[in-house]
Amino acid sequence: MTQQVQKTRGIIVGGSGLIGGALVHHFNKCCGDNIEILSPNSKKMSLASAEDVEKYASYWKPDFIINSAIAAIDSDPQLAYTINYIGCINLAKVALKLNIPYIFVSSAAVFPPGNHLLEEQHLSLEAGLSSYAKSKLMSELTLRHMHEHQGLDFTVVRLAIVYGKHDHKIQGFHRLLFSIADQAMPIFLTAKGVRHSYSNARKVPLFVHHALQNRAEYSGQFYNFVDPEPVELVALIKTIKNFLGVNRPKKIFLPLRVANFGANALKLLLKILLQIGIKAKMPAELMFLDKFYETQTLDGTKLKQSSFTDPWPEETIYSRLSKIIKYYLARWKHHNLLADFNDDSFEHREDIQQFIDKPQQLLKQIHDGDFTPFGKFSTLSKKSSKTPPK
Ligand SMILES: NC(=O)c1ccc[n+]([C@@H]2O[C@H](COP(=O)([O-])OP(=O)(O)OC[C@H]3O[C@@H](n4cnc5c(N)ncnc54)[C@H](OP(=O)(O)O)[C@@H]3O)[C@@H](O)[C@H]2O)c1
Repeated sequence: MTQQVQKTRGIIVGGSGLIGGALVHHFNKCCGDNIEILSPNSKKMSLASAEDVEKYASYWKPDFIINSAIAAIDSDPQLAYTINYIGCINLAKVALKLNIPYIFVSSAAVFPPGNHLLEEQHLSLEAGLSSYAKSKLMSELTLRHMHEHQGLDFTVVRLAIVYGKHDHKIQGFHRLLFSIADQAMPIFLTAKGVRHSYSNARKVPLFVHHALQNRAEYSGQFYNFVDPEPVELVALIKTIKNFLGVNRPKKIFLPLRVANFGANALKLLLKILLQIGIKAKMPAELMFLDKFYETQTLDGTKLKQSSFTDPWPEETIYSRLSKIIKYYLARWKHHNLLADFNDDSFEHREDIQQFIDKPQQLLKQIHDGDFTPFGKFSTLSKKSSKTPPK
């Protein structure tokens, strides 16, 4: 008699995003039939609705929950508060009720500028923080409170600047890459010597998985999940420039006060345009202008001393750069976002070139059986020989 293996069921919220997508991919690939992953999109289960969360969780009764969802970075305070904070804590309440682990993906936005920032450090909670930072910090503080007072089993994974493939919204580091490729950064919007920590999106799922398997060690803990060595922004931009073979940004460094003046002037202009019925948005990155001019490095000692083994210790943003650039250039070109960018290494595959120039020839080759660009589907067999109803 074959024994039925009990599946572990996890819910990943934010599975269509950069980090959530990597998590879903990992868990779907790693463990055969042992883990079942559910990843509802925000239409199916919105963190803005406690009712949605309750319905979904009570139906599926998960064994763990991972929250990598986030409202758009430039959301208004109401959305940031509702989705990032209340949504996060509603999931924690579900985890508490079901007595299951809860992994929360957080951000270096909770830290002040500085070097070697430790897990126990954070900004003080003030009205003047950005809505994003405030909602992340409040989430962390409430999770800690729930752990200490109600026994919530949680782990916070704090990420710095994330690099990796599949950032379809083009945010953070990938926005910087885009600005350089698009030649939209004429001069350096940073200062020499400014350094930051980076987080490798490929490694996050392995850590989360390990933390789920070792609750005694990771429960109630915060981890800075960063590459060991921080990176100087000027050096990184120069390397990207070299890879892309572009001339900009020129070797001129715009001082922060001038950059801030420009950003404020743009804000004013947008307000004036609104008066005459033209609605335009401030680029979200300008919210973080100060960060380009401030060093912020996270201390990774706690992570290093934990039982997690980095599978690719040699991998850094520099070692991944060529792959990441290739991936995004191809993607942005396909989406016509980088129409003017010339790069000879992006020659089309022969059949794609034929599709562009000689579609009749391509179709003939396919119909004559000389060329088969399709899948084989050899693992599929007929479901039934019944003729479909008329
Ligand atoms: N990317 C970075 O550079 C970076 C840096 C530091 C920390 N982090 C942290 O990493 C986590 C993931 O960020 P990310 O960059 O992967 O985000 P992302 O790509 O912007 O994805 C956001 C995800 O949140 C979901 N979401 C938005 N509103 C929702 C709602 N009301 N209910 C349920 N889900 C909702 C979206 O789902 P739908 O598409 O279905 O709406 C999407 O899957 C966040 O906690 C962020 O703070 C990211």
